[in-house]
Amino acid sequence: MMKMIPRTAIRLRHALLLPALVLVLFCARGHDASADIARNQPATPTAATEVPTFYRDVLPILQERCQICHRAEGIAPMRFETYEETRPYAAALAAAVQAKSMPPWFADPQVGHFSNDPSLASGQIAALVAWAKAGAPEGNAQDAPAPRRWAEGWTIPPPDAILKMPRGVALPASGDVEYTYEIVPTGFREDRWVRAVEILPLLRANVHHAVVYVRPPDSQWMRHAPIGVPFTSSTLTDPDDRRGAHWTDSDVLLVYAPGSSPDHWPDGLAKFIPAGSDLVFQMHYTTNGRAASDRTSVGLIFSKQPPAQRVLTLQLTNDHFVIPPGVPDYRVEARGTLPNDATLLSFFPHMHLRGKRFEYNIIHHEKMPDARPDQEIEPLLRVNYHFHWQMSYRLAEPRLLKAGTELQAVAWYDNSRGNAHNPDPDAAVRWGEQTYDEMMVGFFDLAVAANLDKRSYFIRH
Ligand code: HEC
Repeated sequence: MMKMIPRTAIRLRHALLLPALVLVLFCARGHDASADIARNQPATPTAATEVPTFYRDVLPILQERCQICHRAEGIAPMRFETYEETRPYAAALAAAVQAKSMPPWFADPQVGHFSNDPSLASGQIAALVAWAKAGAPEGNAQDAPAPRRWAEGWTIPPPDAILKMPRGVALPASGDVEYTYEIVPTGFREDRWVRAVEILPLLRANVHHAVVYVRPPDSQWMRHAPIGVPFTSSTLTDPDDRRGAHWTDSDVLLVYAPGSSPDHWPDGLAKFIPAGSDLVFQMHYTTNGRAASDRTSVGLIFSKQPPAQRVLTLQLTNDHFVIPPGVPDYRVEARGTLPNDATLLSFFPHMHLRGKRFEYNIIHHEKMPDARPDQEIEPLLRVNYHFHWQMSYRLAEPRLLKAGTELQAVAWYDNSRGNAHNPDPDAAVRWGEQTYDEMMVGFFDLAVAANLDKRSYFIRH
């Protein structure tokens, strides 16, 4: 599965002795300047004694934070667009927001600030809970905000190029759908810098998440797989292709999940697509009772000039672990040292069904003034991991990291019976591509000088 990466790099990734090379190069997600969610807007002011009503107090919150999924075209099984639709769920809704299980977001609020954090403000939670407690009163329809309109097409400006799956993906009415791939040639004769990119599913309600990779012409990743038709890894005939389907060092162009915003990098930042590349769409579909066919598109806006900085996605990875059977909290870590200065933009942790928690830290080596140990761990992100929700976490304030900064990723796994998603608590689990195997990948995005690629970034300047 590691066939894309030079042999030496594979070995070095595990060798803490040579930490400068431990970071393995990988590419993808970036920082979004404009489209992110404003954090924690205050709830509609309601006097403490006044009972919240649906139209005046609840609907604005649902429109702002819930309907992206809880609507006709959304991935959630129930809609919260009207009073009639919402009323039966009042108690469940209050419980979910109180438990902070909705809207889905898995970062520990004590650590870091993220521009795409959809969490409700405490006033909004209080309003929803008080409304449910009061018996979910409807209130006066005249207090209702105008219905929210959802973009039908692109939310980025008109794209310079649109790449659409040539062949639709047939989805059954029910049951699980294996990860589905479709390889779409770009036909680009020149290298391209991309300053904005958006993924637009035809059937939003069926796309749980999607990852679009850039496969350069010299990449061997799934080289024998069919072009322009959907396939799953289990249908590939070439054993390398089949084993490598879920594992690549290709750049990720963009990750999509409902509610995620398109990437629109600030001026001077862009992603790179070499001439002759293919885009590889990796789709996680869900079914909703109706058989249908999806054709997802990617829209790209190019930079007119080469940018000042290039966005690279790297990863901290450990693929040498064995998680013993039955263990509820097994720890695996990876470390790496940045060879050159870079600006840290975002994180995207990846594990499989036994994933439990994931952390990114900086390890400071200065001597601490009060003679504490000479290693200080500064947390950057702590995620209560959920396989179903693959998400990126974008720093509200990108952070400049000096050459020599040591980064650490730590993953915990629950291989016990207590993990409802565990496919086999009696198995010792190693790295592998199938969801019953495990992964430990801490992707992160950096902005670096535009003339650097993943390999040259690792040469110390
Ligand atoms: C990113 C998509 C998304 C957003 C945003 C979202 N939901 Fe959900 N919600 C889902 C999905 C999908 C389910 C079905 C169960 C699951 O997959 O977790 C669900 C289930 C629920 C349920 C039933 C299950 C439970 O937890 O009791 C409630 C209630 C709920 N959501 C409330 C909300 C509220 C309130 C908001 C906004 C504050 C919200 N959701 C925002 C996707 C979303």
